[in-house]
Amino acid sequence: MTTGTADAGLLARDARVIAGVEKLRFFPLAVVSGSGHTLVEEDGRELIDLSASWTASGFGHGEPTIAAAVACAMVDAPGASILSATHPEAVALAEELLALVPGRVPDDERRVYLGHAGTDANDVAIRGCRHATGRPGIIAFENGYHGGIGTAQRVSGVHVACGVPADPDVVLLPYPDVYRPHTGDAATVVDDVLARVEAELVRGTTAAIIVEPVQSDGGVIVPPDGFLAGLRRLCDAHDARLIVDEVKVGLGRTGRTHAFSYDGIVPDVVTLGKALGGGLPLSAAVGPADVLDAPIASALMTTTGNPASCAAGRAVLEIVRTGDAVANVSDRGAQLRALLERYAVTERPGARHVGDVRGRGLSLGVELVGDRESRHPASDLTAKAVYRAWELGVVAYPVRGNVIELTPPLTITADAVDAAAEILARAIDDAATGVVTDERIAPFHGW
Ligand SMILES: Cc1ncc(COP(=O)(O)O)c(C=O)c1O
Repeated sequence: MTTGTADAGLLARDARVIAGVEKLRFFPLAVVSGSGHTLVEEDGRELIDLSASWTASGFGHGEPTIAAAVACAMVDAPGASILSATHPEAVALAEELLALVPGRVPDDERRVYLGHAGTDANDVAIRGCRHATGRPGIIAFENGYHGGIGTAQRVSGVHVACGVPADPDVVLLPYPDVYRPHTGDAATVVDDVLARVEAELVRGTTAAIIVEPVQSDGGVIVPPDGFLAGLRRLCDAHDARLIVDEVKVGLGRTGRTHAFSYDGIVPDVVTLGKALGGGLPLSAAVGPADVLDAPIASALMTTTGNPASCAAGRAVLEIVRTGDAVANVSDRGAQLRALLERYAVTERPGARHVGDVRGRGLSLGVELVGDRESRHPASDLTAKAVYRAWELGVVAYPVRGNVIELTPPLTITADAVDAAAEILARAIDDAATGVVTDERIAPFHGW
């Protein structure tokens, strides 16, 4: 029996059969294949991907060594789960993760939770910290993103701001943003946040702080030096655990294996996801046994640790260990950033709307504003710019309304970066000069 209508086009068929009024669509993108940093549409048109599926294809689409490892794992697969039977791929992946991620307790007191998504890894980490400390409180940050359902969602500032009920025991504090300082003064943001964190910790009810080392969906905000180190110090002083959510920027995206290492800290629990699966669903929480062995931390999902995802994860870790892709990040990140900064100081029509170009490695953000003095967020312009970029051949999505997030596959080439930067600049110019009408972007809800 055939399903669907072959000539209807993927988007029309998708609208008919796949649920979700809140699909995060910014332009009518339907892709039939991908390779490296290239996505191919139904009519064969090639696009440069500056999102990498929100970083889940972190090492490129269809990466050959990952594809081969997955194919191999599916032959004579030892089941599909580690719930009631262990198997070599899962154990080896956990061993390799323990070797890659630093810990604060001896290795034989550390564990790895294997999950499907950043959401369940964070959920498990939070529940485990609550159990281990016997405390309910969680400190998280406004505009933070830790998951799309459950506790991970209810401690995510982005969701709470949109009306999702907050976890009853979460306290959301400002994240230190030097472009939009909540104190009004970039120099005081870190001290102010740390003072607020401490005021909460002294109550003695906090189990853990959960924090992104770069606040990605909240606007690609790199915290000033000393922020994570301050959180580490305060957690130690008040017996709280520090969960660093590396789901989006871990495994090389910032130019280092772990983004938290820029502030010289070692977290209690590190969560990984997205790129870890090399395109397949896979996540991990790496932390102490008292957190991750807690019965309440267990997520009990049947396909947890399935051999194909674990094999993909092991192939990804091998790519990280060999270092070539991660070495590419610094060069390509600096190149992309410099091209955008150069555009911002030209007399071109969109340039004056570039309020800030920021980020770390290949986690970059271009914040569009009405004008540089008011810094008024130009969300409508941003929606039109990403739409136009797609028309011109680049895929990039906005975060927090007015920031174009650039997270290409870490393997992107110099030529592709040159081409993509010029397309982005032209797209911003065209959006600023009215080339994209309100009607064209109206069907796309975005965030
Ligand atoms: C920092 C961070 N943590 C966790 C998540 C949730 O990951 P997933 O969507 O795979 O559940 C995301 C997703 O965007 C994220 O950016």
